[in-house]
Amino acid sequence: MTIFGTPLSLSATRVMLLGAGELGKEVLIALQKLGVETIAVDRYDNAPGHQVAHRAHTIPMNDPVQLRALIESECPMLVVPEIEAIATAELQVLEAEGKVRVVPTARAARLTMDREGIRRLAAETLGLPTSPYQFCDSLDQLREAIEGGREGGDISDVGGIGYPCVLKPVMSSSGKGQSRINGPDEIEAAWSHAMHGGRVAGGRMIVEGFIDFEYEITLLTVRARGADGLIETHFCEPIGHLQVGGDYVESWQPQAMPPVALARAQQIARAVTDDLGRGLNGEPAGLGLFGVELFVRGEEVWFSEVSPRPHDTGLVTLTTQWQSEFELHARAILGLPVDTQLRNAGASAVIYGGVDATAIEFAGIERALSVPGSDLRLFGKPESFVKRRMGVALAHGADIETARSRAKQSASLVKPRLATERDALAAGVDTTNID
Ligand SMILES: Nc1ncnc2c1ncn2[C@@H]1O[C@H](COP(=O)(O)OP(=O)(O)O)[C@@H](O)[C@H]1O
Ligand SMILES: [Mg+2]
Repeated sequence: MTIFGTPLSLSATRVMLLGAGELGKEVLIALQKLGVETIAVDRYDNAPGHQVAHRAHTIPMNDPVQLRALIESECPMLVVPEIEAIATAELQVLEAEGKVRVVPTARAARLTMDREGIRRLAAETLGLPTSPYQFCDSLDQLREAIEGGREGGDISDVGGIGYPCVLKPVMSSSGKGQSRINGPDEIEAAWSHAMHGGRVAGGRMIVEGFIDFEYEITLLTVRARGADGLIETHFCEPIGHLQVGGDYVESWQPQAMPPVALARAQQIARAVTDDLGRGLNGEPAGLGLFGVELFVRGEEVWFSEVSPRPHDTGLVTLTTQWQSEFELHARAILGLPVDTQLRNAGASAVIYGGVDATAIEFAGIERALSVPGSDLRLFGKPESFVKRRMGVALAHGADIETARSRAKQSASLVKPRLATERDALAAGVDTTNID
């Protein structure tokens, strides 16, 4: 049983978020609502979650020495990874030393930060359906993986993955360094794009056969304690989403699916999360919400990847569920019961920065919020990039079509721009004719 104390006192229930972006910010808010003392950590100052936590720290979270020092000085009851680029091997050591509990487990954080770890677990250990794949460390190996080659000097041809295929650095997220290869003349460009897009320069790649799916979903799956104290698995309604360049631009819930496909998706999600939820001795231990990404065509379902934490496409649940994915995560990790029921259909649409600048301003908020059923989140990121996600528009509606068009309309009415007016005012310039 979790006893809840008083924040900022000796009895406090302390939780540390490693990563304090827009998803971490919502988890922190959910924890704050339950009277938890929160500590937000990120690699840059004034990250979204820094702005709503009791304490904020800025460190490179992939540095094991600094990460250990911070955890030992703050002594949180739970450490909650919000991003992948963390010194997860050090988290495993800290967990094994009994110094901290990592959500859902340090092993899950480590396996999922590397496409190789999670892909081998899903396809080779658990036998789940995935795209065909190979790992490679050089351009020559990539060519051979795609086009097939000769094994061990033997003259028999070994079949390759073929075209089209997708190349990704094993250490990357949000589509970074990822590209589709349609033919032999695109291999080299894809390779050099991938070499620069990973978290570590150079590094290992995965090449996957392209799955011609009808739609893709995120199946939010929650491991939470039931009334008897045992860990139970709960599923949210599937979330459909649209990716452009490997980055999510729109999501909606529920995504309609044939019952057989939904049952398969749930089986896959259960198998993966059961395994990632195993404790140090193999016992069921890990708690929390997972975003299981799946490709669907007819009744066929392929596992793609999984986040052992709230998923960006799940921002839609802020307007569709009684408990958003962030509230579900907060409750589950604290050992509390959860309710994954849908409240109403809804959609989300991403608002990009559109400019490279710091301290930008957002015009058009009144118009955006006058779209029926709409809501907004502006993340408060100190620096904007053309393709950085700075906010999200949300909308509910009687059906998905209505909700999607409302969310897109609302997002399009938000106009991020350089803070010209404020700068001009500060400089004493007349701004009445500046839009
Ligand atoms: N093998 C594939 N076949 C078809 N589409 C793919 C494949 N792999 C990735 N994609 C597309 O690219 C998106 C991002 O890929 P993903 O592996 O999820 O990377 P990330 O970790 O950056 O989210 C997917 O959501 C999907 O739309
Ligand atoms: Mg993904």
